[in-house]
Amino acid sequence: MTISRRQFLHSTLALSMMPRVAMASDSELVAQTSMQQIAPQGYPETPIWSYGGGVPGSEIRVPQGARVRRKLVNRLPQPTTVHWHGIRIDNAMDGVPGLTQEVVQPKASFNYDFEVPDAGTYWYHAHNQSMEQVARGLYGPLIVEEASGPDVDQDLTLMLDDWRLDPESAEISDDFDNGHDLSHAGRLGNLVTVNGKFDPSYPVQTSERLRLRLINAANARVFDVTLDGLAGWIVALDGMPLEVPLRVKNSFPLAPAQRADLIVDVLANSGQAASIVSVERDGAYGLAKFEVSGVPSRVARTKIDPLPANRMPEITLKDSPVHRMTMQGGAMRWLESANLGDTELSGRELAQLGRFWALNGYAERPDDPFLDVRLGSVHRIEFANETAFPHAMHLHGHHFRIILQDGTLGPWRDTVLVERGQVRQVALVADNPGNWLLHCHMLGHAASGMMSWFRVT
Ligand code: C2O
Ligand code: CU
Repeated sequence: MTISRRQFLHSTLALSMMPRVAMASDSELVAQTSMQQIAPQGYPETPIWSYGGGVPGSEIRVPQGARVRRKLVNRLPQPTTVHWHGIRIDNAMDGVPGLTQEVVQPKASFNYDFEVPDAGTYWYHAHNQSMEQVARGLYGPLIVEEASGPDVDQDLTLMLDDWRLDPESAEISDDFDNGHDLSHAGRLGNLVTVNGKFDPSYPVQTSERLRLRLINAANARVFDVTLDGLAGWIVALDGMPLEVPLRVKNSFPLAPAQRADLIVDVLANSGQAASIVSVERDGAYGLAKFEVSGVPSRVARTKIDPLPANRMPEITLKDSPVHRMTMQGGAMRWLESANLGDTELSGRELAQLGRFWALNGYAERPDDPFLDVRLGSVHRIEFANETAFPHAMHLHGHHFRIILQDGTLGPWRDTVLVERGQVRQVALVADNPGNWLLHCHMLGHAASGMMSWFRVT
């Protein structure tokens, strides 16, 4: 085929007149500014920061054992990095500035390339100035599929978030370093969204079986989740299958960064609504609803099987050392003193620097790791929460098992909620070499002192 000069001119002209859009190839993850309708219809759109133009960022969905390759392109006005939350990842790909990589400057890029060993529900989010960047919308789902998944009619990812919006302009209020938030429960929003939308609804059929992948992307809010018009089980927590699915009877907590995979059956009939509900002190409100249609004659399934297990290490508690991590500070239990590097400062001096919390006496990530352990060794971490607030403690690069009241091993998790005054032990095999962050996932708490790390060599 030949192309005439006239056609050629015509087409190049057409090309040059095309609006310049960022042609993101599949393997690019562009961190950028964008606009989205976050507040209810009738309010203005909200300027957000996003991966690829919308919040949540595009879903990354791969088979277990696959490689994920993404070139992070930073089109933000701030340096950034991406952390792949919950993935037992190669340390160099973990996305922690100053510990596993340098920040990615505006206009620069970074190639993330890693294997995903475990099936389950994970997520990715910014890990530089995360208190601000995650609040602006820099997060997305990372779903790793089982080779043979459960028999369900729909597989829905629901990312929960709360936003602090100006009630007039619907702009994100930029008081990220608000000392009151930092020293109390963290930054709580005034509008709750699921998948970046206020009160979204999803079409379902009566008697359908759904897999719901709940991910809490909020800065600080602990959701207390329950079901209405649905009956179901928790089949996985923080990506990891439960050996025995847990029937959802009342409500269950979902702390920042935590995930819960549910398998639910739609009980509601056509024309009725079913919903995921958040229980709050002053009542309950719907997070997302399901518009039910179809005939009720469908045969509902009755049996529920556990998800196929991931290949996790064996933990033998016997003789495993216990390492205590004391959590101190915050409103009502103000720090008397704590260290920044080698310098001990008074609580008052620390507060002036925006530091309100301490882990084992340090009000920022210390130079030396909290733990320095041999590859393959087994450890217990005892979180002692001496503060007046709950904290969601997250360990990078590993999952740990909760040690239950009776001393037996509970579910695998990567983020554990430690209630005020509570002492909670977890156990892990340090089987992933590198430098790993350990911090509170109430992001304002992490920014104002609750940050530590451990080293596996
Ligand atoms: Cu979800 Cu250190 O992060
Ligand atoms: Cu905290």
